[in-house]
Amino acid sequence: MAMIFEQESRTFSEYLLVPNLTPRDCTPDAVDLSTAIVRYRKGSAESRLRINVPVVSAIMQSVSDAGMAIALARCGGLSFIYGSQPIAGQAEMVLKAKKYKAGFVVSDSNVAPDATLADILAIKQKTGHSTIAVTDDGTAGGKLVGLVTSRDYRISRVPTATRVREFMTPFDHLVYAREGITLSEANDIIWDNKINQLPIINENGQLVALVFRKDYDEHKENPMELLDRDKRLIVGAGINTRDYQERVPALLAAGADILCIDSSDGFSEWQYDTLQWIRRQYGDRVLVGAGNVVDGEGFRYLADAGADFVKVGIGGGSICITREQKGIGCGQASAVQAVAAARDEYFLETGVYVPICSDGGIVHDYHMTLALAMGADFIMLGRYFARFDESPTRKLLVNGVYVKEYWGEGSNRARNWQRYDSGSEGGQMAFEEGVDSYVPYAGKLKDNLDISMAKIRSTMCACGARTIPELQEKARLVVVSATSIVEGGAHDVIQKESERRS
Ligand code: IMP
Repeated sequence: MAMIFEQESRTFSEYLLVPNLTPRDCTPDAVDLSTAIVRYRKGSAESRLRINVPVVSAIMQSVSDAGMAIALARCGGLSFIYGSQPIAGQAEMVLKAKKYKAGFVVSDSNVAPDATLADILAIKQKTGHSTIAVTDDGTAGGKLVGLVTSRDYRISRVPTATRVREFMTPFDHLVYAREGITLSEANDIIWDNKINQLPIINENGQLVALVFRKDYDEHKENPMELLDRDKRLIVGAGINTRDYQERVPALLAAGADILCIDSSDGFSEWQYDTLQWIRRQYGDRVLVGAGNVVDGEGFRYLADAGADFVKVGIGGGSICITREQKGIGCGQASAVQAVAAARDEYFLETGVYVPICSDGGIVHDYHMTLALAMGADFIMLGRYFARFDESPTRKLLVNGVYVKEYWGEGSNRARNWQRYDSGSEGGQMAFEEGVDSYVPYAGKLKDNLDISMAKIRSTMCACGARTIPELQEKARLVVVSATSIVEGGAHDVIQKESERRS
């Protein structure tokens, strides 16, 4: 007979934290939100990778591209760039994020000298950029031959068929700088010469980046930034259990710092094979997570197979319909608790700590604190990040409200069949496991993340915890009844429109 779990599974909204004594020195600014995200041995100095805030962005087309990876790493978190795209495209995104230097923008509006004014106008219309680099081959890394800004032409006077070479500001009239200068030096040149942008070239005269006057203030040092030894941003990438022998080397060559096998159900021999292949090829040099699982057995299988971290969650994602379609999964809070218990047992038994990541189902900021308190070492979020300027999707006005697009990897739009692979030949998705949706637009990532992290810090102080491990050790959680959930919101008052929170 089938085995039936005695306890029902629960979601985050069914729990609250009961405060502990707050010591005087336990204040939000004393809270350290950094967390280890890859396996380490008891007694060893450190996990080989820590993040400065305990959040990572989901391995999804509508969430994690190079722009998100840059924005999130600058705030101390980490993105896993989506793998449901050709290998070259994903590697290029990783490379772009790794090459990022605050204030130095790789030009993405470029033309060759033979292009016409009509081409310039079309690029301007499409990208909104008014500075367009002219390079010998029209690429971002070609030899710089000139620059076009709106000061170089008058639409009413210059016929649209005119070649760029005839009206651009040619290279010998440009102020430029050599690769290697600092942002503040570049800024001095911009101010001394009263210019709006400064092209940066290498010793061969090839364009490396542009520095814009307006960017300087936005790019002050950020103490939380997640940087590698060479001061480049740290970037992750998703892989699958089909083309890993080609994808993994390409991502590593592009500079990916950590990989994660992306699957809705990670308790499989394909994940074992993928992890083992990586270990055979690279030993422990490559950091790779696996998942998703929802119980101790799944955790142990992937930990034994060599996963550096294990991702937890099936069916809890906001765009996910896996539970409805296939009847598999588990309430996210219960899944995190079960896997956290297995991780602790594994640690006691083997002396190896394998961090776990709670993936999906975070609706309110406090759910993040609950996930951490229940044992998650870090959290993966899709919907949360999809709402920000930095996510790759379009911002639209729908019924008078700004929204961003957000679609699941198992939706017809993404068709990420490798994530829902059941091993059949041909790689088809027979049915959808995700939906295509909108989420309310919420502005800049940093502004929102700062508030969410402030709430976590504050709750941790209420629990008397200054670090995530301390929170996990000390937290006391209580299951709440349906009526106490109602009591928890504003109730029995008529709220003023302006006071409503989203
Ligand atoms: P969210 O933060 O609740 O929006 O959940 C994001 C998570 O949902 C991702 O990290 C994935 O684990 C999962 N996910 C992404 N796309 C799909 C899908 O199409 N179906 C089911 N789960 C998905």
